[in-house]
Amino acid sequence: MTANPPAFPSSTVQILPARAVPRHVAIIMDGNGRWAKSRYLPRVAGHKRGVEIVREVTRACIDLGIEFLTLFAFSSENWRRPQEEITMLRQLFLMALEQEIGKLDRNGIRLKIIGDLEPFGERIKELAQRAEEQTAQNTRLTLTIAANYGGRWDLLQAVGKLVRKYPSQTEGFTEEQFAPLLAMNYAPEPDLFIRTGGEQRISNFLLWHVAYTELYFTPKLWPDFDRNALDEAIEWFIARERRFGRTSEQLEPGELAQAAADPGPVRRGY
Ligand code: IPE
Ligand code: IPE
Ligand code: MG
Repeated sequence: MTANPPAFPSSTVQILPARAVPRHVAIIMDGNGRWAKSRYLPRVAGHKRGVEIVREVTRACIDLGIEFLTLFAFSSENWRRPQEEITMLRQLFLMALEQEIGKLDRNGIRLKIIGDLEPFGERIKELAQRAEEQTAQNTRLTLTIAANYGGRWDLLQAVGKLVRKYPSQTEGFTEEQFAPLLAMNYAPEPDLFIRTGGEQRISNFLLWHVAYTELYFTPKLWPDFDRNALDEAIEWFIARERRFGRTSEQLEPGELAQAAADPGPVRRGY
């Protein structure tokens, strides 16, 4: 046993000083359909209200000083839904892109979209690209929308890039080689994961990235998830003790702050 083990051996682990507001919050926005059903409304009403909540939560994140907000809008499995609902979700996505780009830009928000946009068609692909380009220099908040995203899809596309990038290497791959090939290579790993709607599962959202993320599940349906609900989640997060494999006794506040100043090679250059 060495007296002083190396600090945080896994270099892709995002290190935060204890008791700080999360840098990166990732949310599975679930419960729109049940919210609508409980009001005898069509499912689309829940999704529309869900878009309004996205605006509110985005503003709240800016006010709290959160740097990265990642929202699961449509999973690679959501194609299994009735065609009518898919068409409507596609229309809502299109409208949101058309209407929000200017507002996002004026508010200093950088928009990123992860997932395979191909099946959504040319118009959405074009608008998404334009939105990313127009907001690329913004620094207040990075808002990532995961659309036709799947954690397994992300891992497989990264593996494809890995073998093309290192054609003569067959073993000994490192996290530093692999992590930058994932779709969200511009962000630190999420500190806080929130799932609304009561289910306690990941549903093929970020898989690699949640290795050390704090997982928060709330029965509140997404259309009811307001600023106060976000505050509650943040308070819960702040009370967590993030040990990253170490023991409580090893967690000196000064040491953690120092580690946060040097989060490791994978995040350098972001
Ligand atoms: C989440 O709400 C939104 C999407 C998956 C697009 P749901 O539509 O899954 O709502 P519930 O889970 O049926 O209530
Ligand atoms: C997860 O919600 C996907 C999104 C919120 C976009 P689902 O409602 O599709 O998840 P399951 O089917 O309950 O696991
Ligand atoms: Mg659902």
